Amino acid sequence: MRALKIKDFVEYEAYLRANDTELGKLVETLTINLSYFFRNLEFFFFLKDYVFPELKKKKADLVFWSAGCAQGEEPYSLAIIAAESRMLESVKIYGTDIDSRVLDVARHGVYSDIALQYIPEDLQKKYFKRVPGGRLIDSRLQERIRFLNSDLFAIPPFGPCDLIMCRNVLIYLGRDAQSIILRHFYDHLKADGYLAIGKVELLIGIPEVELFNTVSRVEHVYQKKEMSS
Ligand SMILES: C[S@@+](CC[C@H](N)C(=O)[O-])C[C@H]1O[C@@H](n2cnc3c(N)ncnc32)[C@H](O)[C@@H]1O
Repeated sequence: MRALKIKDFVEYEAYLRANDTELGKLVETLTINLSYFFRNLEFFFFLKDYVFPELKKKKADLVFWSAGCAQGEEPYSLAIIAAESRMLESVKIYGTDIDSRVLDVARHGVYSDIALQYIPEDLQKKYFKRVPGGRLIDSRLQERIRFLNSDLFAIPPFGPCDLIMCRNVLIYLGRDAQSIILRHFYDHLKADGYLAIGKVELLIGIPEVELFNTVSRVEHVYQKKEMSS
């Protein structure tokens, strides 16, 4: 509204309805896209050491969803850990975000040295190569990930998941919205599927928390509860 010198919400709403490009601009302005590779490093090693061995026992193809994936740092980190766990070939990862600009960066897969700073050095060498403009992620990882423009409040265009990661997104939402999304995640997980939320996120007083068992209180990893009928 400041950029357009509009002082009134009603006037802004009329502008929004009359101008096709404004909705995209509004979403870009309101979304906070801060992310980095291996955000909370221990979390990714928790997945590798405790969650992935359990998933491997299923001996089936696995579906992972990084919901609110920003520029792709999170799903690519997940793919690196899957590759290190020798399970990349059986994994399909979906990265979704409401902001189409960040998804373009994610699909391109080229990052600055600073973006890579928290990736352990051996993994940087193994999974990135230097290209003009930065470092390009290994194409074997890229092939496993599909980036989609999708709102968390909508049903995603893929099937039930073995693992949903939604980190540092719910913190920006109110309790009612968190409730809706948690229920949505529950419905979109396979039996025994895992849910991970951000390290700084606490879902206190939300009834939908009861739909999950706690796997790690420290890493904020949960598992879908079996509901007796
Ligand atoms: C702070 S980033 C977190 C990125 C990553 N998950 C992490 O933990 O580093 C939050 C992302 O959530 C996305 N987002 C916010 N609201 C959303 C919604 N309703 N549907 C889908 N994505 C959303 C934003 O566009 C942004 O890219």
